[in-house]
Amino acid sequence: MPDQKSNPYLLSRDIAPVLYNIELEPDLENFTFKGNEYISIQAPRPFSKIELHALEITVTRACLVRGPLDSGSRLEAHHVTYNEKRETVILDFGETLKPGQYPTLYLEFSGVLNDKMHGFYRTSYEVAGQKKWGAATQFEATDARRAFPCWDEPARKARFKISLKVPRHLTALSNMPVIEEGFLPATALKRLVFDITPVMSTYLVAFVVAELEYIEAQDKNGVGVRIYTTPGKKEQGRFALGVALHTLPYFADWFGIPYSLPKCDMAALPDFASGAMENWGLVTYRETALLVDPVNSSAAARQRVAEVVAHELAHQWFGNLVTMKWWTDLWLNEGFASYMGPKAVAHQFPEWEVWSQYIGHEFLGALHADSLRNTHAIEIDVQNPHEIREIFDSITYAKGSVVNRMLEHYLGEEAFREGLNLYLKRFEYGNASTQDLWHALEEVSGKPVKAIMASYTRQGGYPVISVSEGKNQNTPSLILEQKRFLFDGSGDKKNPHWKIPVGVAASGLKKPIYRLMQKRKETVALPTRPNKWLKLNPGSSGFFRTAYSPKLFSNLLEAMSRGILAPEESLGVLDDAFALVRAGHLRTSAGLSLLESLDKETDYNLWAGISGSVGSLEMLFGSTHSALGTKISAFGRELFSPIAKKLGWNAKASDTHLDILLRSLVLANMGAFDDRDTIEEARLRFNQFIKTDQMPPDLRGAVYSIVARHGGAKEFDRLLNVYTSAGLQEEKVRVLRAMTRFRTPELVRRAHRFALSGEVRAQDTFIILAGLGSNAFAREANWKFVKSNWSTLVDRFAGGL
Ligand code: BES
Ligand code: ZN
Repeated sequence: MPDQKSNPYLLSRDIAPVLYNIELEPDLENFTFKGNEYISIQAPRPFSKIELHALEITVTRACLVRGPLDSGSRLEAHHVTYNEKRETVILDFGETLKPGQYPTLYLEFSGVLNDKMHGFYRTSYEVAGQKKWGAATQFEATDARRAFPCWDEPARKARFKISLKVPRHLTALSNMPVIEEGFLPATALKRLVFDITPVMSTYLVAFVVAELEYIEAQDKNGVGVRIYTTPGKKEQGRFALGVALHTLPYFADWFGIPYSLPKCDMAALPDFASGAMENWGLVTYRETALLVDPVNSSAAARQRVAEVVAHELAHQWFGNLVTMKWWTDLWLNEGFASYMGPKAVAHQFPEWEVWSQYIGHEFLGALHADSLRNTHAIEIDVQNPHEIREIFDSITYAKGSVVNRMLEHYLGEEAFREGLNLYLKRFEYGNASTQDLWHALEEVSGKPVKAIMASYTRQGGYPVISVSEGKNQNTPSLILEQKRFLFDGSGDKKNPHWKIPVGVAASGLKKPIYRLMQKRKETVALPTRPNKWLKLNPGSSGFFRTAYSPKLFSNLLEAMSRGILAPEESLGVLDDAFALVRAGHLRTSAGLSLLESLDKETDYNLWAGISGSVGSLEMLFGSTHSALGTKISAFGRELFSPIAKKLGWNAKASDTHLDILLRSLVLANMGAFDDRDTIEEARLRFNQFIKTDQMPPDLRGAVYSIVARHGGAKEFDRLLNVYTSAGLQEEKVRVLRAMTRFRTPELVRRAHRFALSGEVRAQDTFIILAGLGSNAFAREANWKFVKSNWSTLVDRFAGGL
């Protein structure tokens, strides 16, 4: 745990908050709020000042009560000053006070209901065509201080009793159930008091105030679950409710610890900064991450909802019950939720093949992010809010998740689960560090967890293992050599190395053999000479890439073209090959012939990998080298034609979930490779849709994008129309994505203007900017746009930071 010496931003330990009794009254007309709080504190040492976090808050009164509230003497703060850089307010009492318990530090304050989706913020929704306002909170990582003065650090846990004064017709929610409710006489307000919370971190406190409706059910352990939405949408919460009813008991059972709170609310908010937030007992979501429309939602959207719900519910244990000591260990929250989430989803929806999808998204996503020179270690020193915000990235999430999976494979599921249970029990309602977790896992497994894991969490990057056959004909062996892998093709002067659990699968071996590689170069004896092929890292459980000797590589290619490897194994080989191409270690033609060996495959995950690999070439050559771009498109068409023909446009009764995902992926690719028939059919279906409003939701994303890529102003207008008339946020997002596919400068400008217009919520602007960045015809203009509108963008998104 860092102290004030190593991190000057931390608050002094001279005062400890024990219980906050907070009352807030939002003003939904003027977008401000008033509040007061009674904090009981403990002072281990004498003090004369109290410094606590507060940001964009004005403290109008501060006093300390010595002794019981009604009879004790009150000491008003002499001076109240603010430290902007430290985001604090300092209360100076003008005399030295004795150590001990102070039941009441009383504060009155006011603040703003901002439009930045951080702290206590406003959100708008429509009821019967009328714009209405509500208020919600987003405190992680460091924005509780925008709602009430507090010790806003994860290790300063306390209990919270929240009261809200709100207009009578609105619903108000917080972490705990309401225990008292009454109208305030001579006002249009009511006052709600919520039950006192268990000991918890400030970033997990939450409240929501708006016109809301809900559906509800109890899980099998009797926990009440509700899905809240703005009016007219509650039925769209049905799917998420089903996921929560499965997932809460699943985790209670897996962790061996019941869910801690009396209820679990999940609310869909129209304005939301990220995807979702795990506030204890009141999980908040962006609408697309919680709502599913039975008629208009795609299979991909349902899957996304299940994933997000499972991730946030995993946090109710990992993060909420046991919290990282400091943000340096943020991965203990996010890496674990990102690993536990898929477990629950795989259990509920086995037909989705979540773990195969995981390799494409999480595993390869982590390798990609960690191939950049500017990557960082999972455990990284962060001191202030700017630095903290930066690490909510794919290193913390995806690499954090993937190294957990590697560890579970190495220890076995039972030891892993027992270790986690020990850790959660040991630190429940408290805080823990990465070391604490390794200790628990070592205790249970007796294996050198810390030594292995430190090489993945304490240094950035990862190794590529070069593998070739040993020379000695009589004793078959492999020569392995590890080096850091970087996309830019360079090396790392520090010559770091990793402790790698290496698996080897080969023809002639019944089971893969495993070996812990500790040195930079090692020889591994093989029981028999692989007569046909050999592959490292079966199941992609190890966090490394493989560079095969030319002979081993061509053997592997040959095996792949005969369909001997499982699709997710081929996916690993494919991604490694294209990464090596990108780094200049392998010829592009070798990557292309690998692609050709896969043309008979029918697996969604593999095709997603193929799409990404060809896409990376298209990104490089798409517009600037147009002659080459045309050739790449032709290559892509040829590659994708057989699978496109096989799947066709229309859903079949025999389609699996993955077939459905595959169809839209393949069509989108054929469109992007300028395939005439595909473009024709997409146009036809789009025109039909404009007339009849009928199109299967699984085709819409691909169709809109193809029509846009090959369309002009007329198509833009029509898409705009779809956007405006859609009630479902998912549909709006599909249109926004498609709007980034136009290729003429004028339509790119229109997309830009639209991005900053009042018609797009601030939460969605990035969809357009990120999309245009991946459009070879718009990228330059997009970069110029971002630069020349920088101050507007900062004002809109930087949350006043
Ligand atoms: N704790 C995060 C929410 C968050 C993100 C807070 C960034 C502050 C900054 C939440 O648990 C989360 O990780 N949400 C993800 C979705 C998840 C399925 C990966 C998100 O918002 O994208
Ligand atoms: Zn999370």
